Amino acid sequence: MTKLLEGKRGIIFGALNDKSIAWKVAEKAAEQGAKFTLTNAPIALRMGEINALAEKTGSAVITADATDMNDLKALFEKSQEELGGKLDFVLHSIGMSPNVRKGKHYTGLDHNFYAKTLDVSAASFHKVLQTAYEMDAINEWGSVLGLTYIAAQRVFPDYNDMADAKALLESIARSFGYHYGVKRKVRVNTISQSPTPTTAGTGVKGFDSFINYADSMSPLGNADASACADYCISMFSDLTRFVTMQNLFHDGGFSFTGVSEKVMEKF
Ligand SMILES: NC(=O)c1ccc[n+]([C@@H]2O[C@H](COP(=O)([O-])OP(=O)(O)OC[C@H]3O[C@@H](n4cnc5c(N)ncnc54)[C@H](O)[C@@H]3O)[C@@H](O)[C@H]2O)c1
Repeated sequence: MTKLLEGKRGIIFGALNDKSIAWKVAEKAAEQGAKFTLTNAPIALRMGEINALAEKTGSAVITADATDMNDLKALFEKSQEELGGKLDFVLHSIGMSPNVRKGKHYTGLDHNFYAKTLDVSAASFHKVLQTAYEMDAINEWGSVLGLTYIAAQRVFPDYNDMADAKALLESIARSFGYHYGVKRKVRVNTISQSPTPTTAGTGVKGFDSFINYADSMSPLGNADASACADYCISMFSDLTRFVTMQNLFHDGGFSFTGVSEKVMEKF
């Protein structure tokens, strides 16, 4: 199918480099006819890689720290100006934990870092939604997506405080999805993605082992970033208009597999 997003306008958060899930979403959204702005935190933009994506997709790049309400307001204003009207989709593809970065154990977290993890990785989703809601910046049947991981439901010890952030993120999707649905028929969902070799993903301790474990456990194998982007496009399209407040597993069947033969053989 082509041009699933023809005539749609959006904002894509979180394209850091060509491994980022958001990068793949931007490429596919452009292929499907969407117009959008790209945004990331000032420090990520200084790395400069996003400019190549902006050129390829014909998009403007607008700086915003997703935890800063003033930045978000300016981002939504400028994006509507740049794109010529209200938006139809928003991708929140943001995650960061200073505790993971500094190797703090879950039982001995630095609580200033913990607050930062929750703010950047979860509360920022609420801030994005609240900004859009208050500005009435999203058209009816618009679609807002966050990206999450199954550590929100089950314990993956090295995922650390990001597990708590993902649980909060998924809860925000449900709660805001209710209110935004009632008020403006805007839908809000999270996609729970397989482990994926990106900058954020590989920062988690033991990533190489658990990406292989997940692959062996999943009947279809791990979903890669490009397949995740395809799913995001379908969720931004009009083909999924009545899906809201859901946490959608995009993981090759991992989430509902108790054990696989491949894993059994290893014991
Ligand atoms: N990689 C995986 O294994 C995996 C699995 C499931 C879910 N996810 C989720 O997918 C999303 C995207 O991550 P990714 O794997 O593409 O990695 P990534 O490192 O490419 O993307 C993370 C992005 O978050 C941005 N960011 C951090 N702090 C920010 C802030 N204050 N304001 C704005 N942006 C900020 C970074 O600059 C970066 O672009 C995250 O929510 C992540 O938790 C990843």
